[in-house]
Amino acid sequence: MRGDFHGIGVFMARKIVGLDIGSHSIKVVVARERLGRIDLQQFYERPVSNGSLQEIIRGIFQEGKIHPDIVVSSVPGNRVSVHYLKIPFSDEAKIVKVIPYEVEGVIPFPLEDMVIDQFILSKGNGAGPEHGSSVCVALIKKETLKDHIDSLKGAYIDPKVIELESLALYHTYTEWYKTEDTVALLDIGASRSNLCIVSKGKPGYVRTFNRGGNGITSTIQDNLGIGFEEAEEKKISTGIILYETTGVEEDDKETVSSVIKKGLDPFITELKQSLHAYEIQYNEPVSKLYIAGGSSRLINIDKFLGNELDLEVEHLSVPNEMLQKLPGVEGAGTLIPTCIGLVLRGAQKKHASGLNFRKGEYFYRKEVKESTGRILYIIAAIIVVILLGSIDFYSRYQDRVARHQQIKSDIRKAYIETFPGTTNIVSENQQLKSAVEELKKKVTALGGGKNRAMGALDLLNTINEKIPKELQVNINDFFMDKSKIRLQGNSDSFENVERLKKELEGITLFKKVDVSEAKLSADQKLVKFRIIIDL
Ligand SMILES: Nc1ncnc2c1ncn2[C@@H]1O[C@H](COP(=O)(O)OP(=O)(O)OP(=O)(O)O)[C@@H](O)[C@H]1O
Ligand SMILES: [Mg+2]
Repeated sequence: MRGDFHGIGVFMARKIVGLDIGSHSIKVVVARERLGRIDLQQFYERPVSNGSLQEIIRGIFQEGKIHPDIVVSSVPGNRVSVHYLKIPFSDEAKIVKVIPYEVEGVIPFPLEDMVIDQFILSKGNGAGPEHGSSVCVALIKKETLKDHIDSLKGAYIDPKVIELESLALYHTYTEWYKTEDTVALLDIGASRSNLCIVSKGKPGYVRTFNRGGNGITSTIQDNLGIGFEEAEEKKISTGIILYETTGVEEDDKETVSSVIKKGLDPFITELKQSLHAYEIQYNEPVSKLYIAGGSSRLINIDKFLGNELDLEVEHLSVPNEMLQKLPGVEGAGTLIPTCIGLVLRGAQKKHASGLNFRKGEYFYRKEVKESTGRILYIIAAIIVVILLGSIDFYSRYQDRVARHQQIKSDIRKAYIETFPGTTNIVSENQQLKSAVEELKKKVTALGGGKNRAMGALDLLNTINEKIPKELQVNINDFFMDKSKIRLQGNSDSFENVERLKKELEGITLFKKVDVSEAKLSADQKLVKFRIIIDL
């Protein structure tokens, strides 16, 4: 048994609804299918006694706000004629063509009144009838199909797939049970029971019995002379007592139990016949019987059937982890496999082992709507891509604005550090550029090259060159910062200090030359001076 639930992979998520219309209750399972994975989301069961079929289905879809992409419904096996044929070739197209001729003789109605569908059980090699293909062919009267479609139309439901009810359990079984053994699946309902024998993983035989829980209840009614409701209650509360009891208070229960067994008798006889007929025809023993449906809840029915049929009997179950996510499913574990089987049919590929009576004039036309939906989906996807692109662009733009602000503030900081006297900064970039230009000019004026940094030594050299040889001046201290030069020295006269000042003023790089100090030395022989130059 597999724990996960895989269907057929498509990119888009699809909502698939299984709609199981029984004579006792209507069951609905809603699942979400995406990339081959199915998640069960909702489950509803409503008794048919509470209104018309359309009202009940409409009520469920409204209550659950169900807007499905695919609805799968089913038609009862007793309304469908099923045939297993051997066709002497393997080409699928050829097989489909000959089927109407093959079945024409075996059905009591004109073929034009019927809808035919089929699936291949095994492909032959085409070397004569013995090596032909095995095909399961199913026919339904157009009138029956139309009634089914019309009644669902009244509930605003348009099923994409209309499956044979007897195959529903088969889809559930093959999803989780992987055995090569030949097994029988039995859905025991209220008015009917569906048998499907699975051989080599294919539904090798299907049959519907017009017997189920209702028959048991009516036997109790008839035998105990009580009403339907009371008989139903006794059936459910008592079930089948397997061993003889001794207590007097158990007498009533013993009676109910033996009446239930009596009610089951004709059903068991038919079931035995079908199983034996299959085993004899295919020379294949059926190793196990899996049961599901409302009447499989009958207390001890598994053990009772096991004894009567001399067969291992087990409830067909859906993995717990799948059901845990499904609200309202408590106690409905035996009801749900049929409905889930319909969901799984909706997720299958075209050529799966299943039927779909929506063919010919009853072909499901919602494809157009679906492709419109697909176009809308693509448009929505494009809008999302554009939106994401815009957001990306916007965030990059924002990022750049932030980076620009950062660079601007860095420039401002560098500018203030380089030119500390500046107070009015309007455009740091522009101001920095012009300041650099000015510095460049100064460098050029001082003889600095493109690649030369203007150093103090260069300035000192320039000053030295400007001082005439005959001028008696000694410079014994030179100090330079970003905007000023301070020269300290001595000369033989005040005139020569003045001449030096004049010579320095001739250097274009210097904005202003001031003699800040000029005084005689203590021995009165020299004139000490200090000159401040603004750059
Ligand atoms: N606990 C129980 N014990 C015995 N029988 C039960 C129990 N619960 C439900 N049933 C019987 O199960 C039957 C309903 O089963 P289910 O819901 O599978 O039928 P349905 O699908 O509506 O009908 P159908 O498929 O036959 O048209 C009723 O006969 C009901 O009495
Ligand atoms: Mg049913």
